[in-house]
Order: sequence, then structure tokens, then C-alpha cells
Amino acid sequence: MKVFHNKIELSQLIEGLKVKGSSIGFVPTMGALHNGHLSLVNKALSQNGYVVVSVFVNPTQFDNQEDLVKYPRNLDADVALLKTVSDSTIIVYAPTVEDIYSNNVKSQSFAFDGLEHEMEGAFRGGHFDGVGTIVKRLFEIVKPDMAYFGEKDFQQLQIIKKLVELHKMPVKVIGCPIHRAKDGLAMSSRNTRLTPEHRAAAPFIYKTLKSAKTKFGTKSAKNVTEWVSKQFKKQPLLELEYFIIADTTTLKPVKRKSTKKTYRAFIAVYAGDIRLIDNIALN
Ligand code: PAJ
Repeated sequence: MKVFHNKIELSQLIEGLKVKGSSIGFVPTMGALHNGHLSLVNKALSQNGYVVVSVFVNPTQFDNQEDLVKYPRNLDADVALLKTVSDSTIIVYAPTVEDIYSNNVKSQSFAFDGLEHEMEGAFRGGHFDGVGTIVKRLFEIVKPDMAYFGEKDFQQLQIIKKLVELHKMPVKVIGCPIHRAKDGLAMSSRNTRLTPEHRAAAPFIYKTLKSAKTKFGTKSAKNVTEWVSKQFKKQPLLELEYFIIADTTTLKPVKRKSTKKTYRAFIAVYAGDIRLIDNIALN
């Protein structure tokens, strides 16, 4: 498997593959790869000749320094895992901070038609400027035909679609379903940092989302939101940061339900110091 740390060498290889007529799929990640990431890689491999997987813990999207410092990093394990999927058609790009940012580690500022102000944007200051900055740069370096993002980070997926539309970038963005552990917990690189007690408590998040979905069939969004809040008050190991039922397209919180619109419930929960997010389609 080819592993690049330098954008110029990577670009040369990709140019050569494109000249030969191969399509390039792209899966951007921050590493600590798990089966959720692999589901994106497999989807990308099924639709492209070669797949570039980037592994880069992007400093500009972290609003919390401790989270950035403690974010799990293990490139050797990531490469070994990717080799089990395909040794010859996956290319890894694991840049240094300098390769991406030179000596100016700063976000560009973006407007994504208001999508950036909701939920994660409201609770994690500057997060989507950091995500927009890194993904735009990576798209310019990799020049993929198709790029794959998980619905696990549904707001991020919508924002990347908007980024591509607003900046007229020649890449097709593909959303992929949430991959879960057997007990329902959405897979995440941060799960490895949960204590055994918090890990045991965490499946309650998805269980509650499923109940919320059922309740949303007959009850108002306000009613369901209050019910969820009450359920979390009974959970000593989990602290609810937000539960929001929002319009799937605008991501604005629902005021009055309409049968013509689709909705999703979004949740962020602290399990000790670890912040977990999840979401579910409601209709
Ligand atoms: P990271 O959290 O590593 O996730 C990389 C990609 O994997 C994202 O598109 C994310 O939604 C997807 N993913 C993670 N867990 C998943 C799961 N359980 N099921 C399905 N997809 C899952 O998201 C980022 O990195 C960064 O913000 C990035 C886009 C790389 C920019 O730095």
C-alpha cells in the first residue's frame, strides 16, 4: 500500500492514474479507523478504480484543545486495517500539518446558507470553518471524482454538499449510512476513549433515538424533545447537550410538523469527558 505524507508526490501519482482513465474515490478521515470508516472505503471501492483515504487530525476544526491532544492517532494500525480491505487500490494520504497549512494554521471563513449556525455549529465554535477549510484543500489536492461522507455526521455531510455547490467543485458527494456496534452505539474513533462504564451506558443514546422516532409519529416535536430530556435526567453517566428535531434540508429546528417535509433527530451527549453524537431519520 502506498502511503504519502507529501501532497506533491500524491498529486503526481493521482494525475498518472487519471490519465490512464481510472476514476478516483476519496474518503477523508481523521484516522483511528473503525468499521464505520471501512464501510465508506468499501462503498468507494465499489464505484472507483482507486480510493484515496486521507488520515489527518485537522487542528482547525477542534474547539477544545484537550480533545485535539487526546484524539487517538495510530497510522500503522490504520494502514494495517486498510490493507485487509485492499492493498493495491487504496492510497493513503497522511499529511503533516505543514503540508496542509504551511506555517499558517488557520481556518478560512465560510457561509453555508445558514447550515453552519445550527447544532454542531452552535455548540462547537468555528468547527465548520475548520471542516470547510480542510475538506476544500483536500479536494483541491486529491481532485476526486467522488467523495464519501458518513451520515453519522449528517450536518457535516450537508455542509460538504453545500461547499461543493457554492464553490462549483467538480466532485460528487455521496452520503453513507451510519455504521453501528451490535448494541446500537454509532461507531466513532472517540468510543475507544470511553471508560467501560460509560461504554456500557452509551447504547442508551440510540435506544432513545429509536423511541423518539416512534413517538414523533403521534406527538409534537416539543413533546418528544421534553420526553428525551426527561429520559437523560435518569441516566447518571450520560449528560444530554442537545436533542433537536430539525428539517433534513435546512437543518432548522421544526416548529410545526408538515407532512410534506422530512425530519431528523440530532443528539449530542457527554459520557464523562467524551462527546458523542448521533442522529436518526424520523419520516
Ligand atoms: P472522522 O470523524 O474520522 O470521520 C471520517 C468519515 O467517516 C466522516 O465522513 C464520518 O461521517 C464517517 N464516519 C465516522 N463514523 C461513522 C459511522 N459510524 N458510520 C458511518 N460513517 C462514519 O469527519 C471527520 O473525520 C472529519 O471532520 C473530516 C471530514 C475528515 C475533516 O477533517
